Amino acid sequence: MPLVTSKELLQQAQKEGYAIGAFNANNMECVKAVIEAAEEERAPVILQVSQGAIRYAGLKMATAMVNAAAEEASVPVVLHLDHGTSFLQNVQCIHAGFTSLMYDGSAEPLEKNIETSAKITEIAHAVGLPVEAELGNIPKIEDYLSTEEANELRGRSPAEQVDALRAKAGPQVEALMADPGQAQEFVSRTGIDSLAAAVGSIHGMWDDIWPLRRDRIEALQKATGLPLVCHGSSGVIRTRAEAKAKGIELKPNECTLEEAVKIGLCKINVATIISITFLRGAREAWDERPMEKDLRKILLPGLKAAKELVRSYMRLFGSSGKVTGPARVDASEVKHAE
Ligand code: G3H
Ligand code: ZN
Repeated sequence: MPLVTSKELLQQAQKEGYAIGAFNANNMECVKAVIEAAEEERAPVILQVSQGAIRYAGLKMATAMVNAAAEEASVPVVLHLDHGTSFLQNVQCIHAGFTSLMYDGSAEPLEKNIETSAKITEIAHAVGLPVEAELGNIPKIEDYLSTEEANELRGRSPAEQVDALRAKAGPQVEALMADPGQAQEFVSRTGIDSLAAAVGSIHGMWDDIWPLRRDRIEALQKATGLPLVCHGSSGVIRTRAEAKAKGIELKPNECTLEEAVKIGLCKINVATIISITFLRGAREAWDERPMEKDLRKILLPGLKAAKELVRSYMRLFGSSGKVTGPARVDASEVKHAE
């Protein structure tokens, strides 16, 4: 089916208390992994094109991949710009056929962020497209840890990793969170459709161990009434049961991804952990068959591993089963024909 906008999907999700997964269109295999999971789960889905993907595949190729996948799909698919860097890039994406935009002005002074977000929203709305904008600052793990430090930390138990991160990054991550009063003003002055608010997550984590700030999500939800978007979700602990199994203790004002969906997250961006899972799947395949010459036979297990993780996120977010109507002719027998 043709691409749909994120507005309709997020409004529906907000009304019914679930979230739409937003996964990155980094290459054809990732796109297929996401679409196949969405088809089988009967879940609406957002495929987003990051700045890295634009540099890697080019805007035209990335757009074409998502378009082709959506065209064949029987579930609603959104083509979204992730962390749009400027007014001009957003205009280019409108021209390219994106159905959802983002401006990330979090590194700008607030007034400039408001001004550019409002300008993009005005032209986007004129052509029926919704806009996500960022408030507060959602950091990346590299802001706090060198590669050596991160590698050392990854060797420790999840609980030790969380303790070390709390000491190293906790106060700064807290200080960067979006302010609810400011969010109210930001939303009313920009007219945006969804808010990527910093609520305690960190981009680029290698495992789901880190909590979100429940109190901040609640306050932002109350202040804005908008669908909230969670960035940096790879590192966020998924459920209480998983936290317990990993020996991670949450503080009273913290919550898991599952809980955060219940209190206002409507779009959840997961990228890094999907990429790692893909690589692991491919590496295992190549370890098993080091003489393999056909790259497709190594990439396919990566695709399948990524697809299963995407599926599990769709179930966690409650978006599975939200699409009624018939699936496309089930191509599972032929789609991986070699
Ligand atoms: O914008 C993309 C996301 O925020 C992905 O974050 O790579 O930490 O999952 P992640
Ligand atoms: Zn992000």
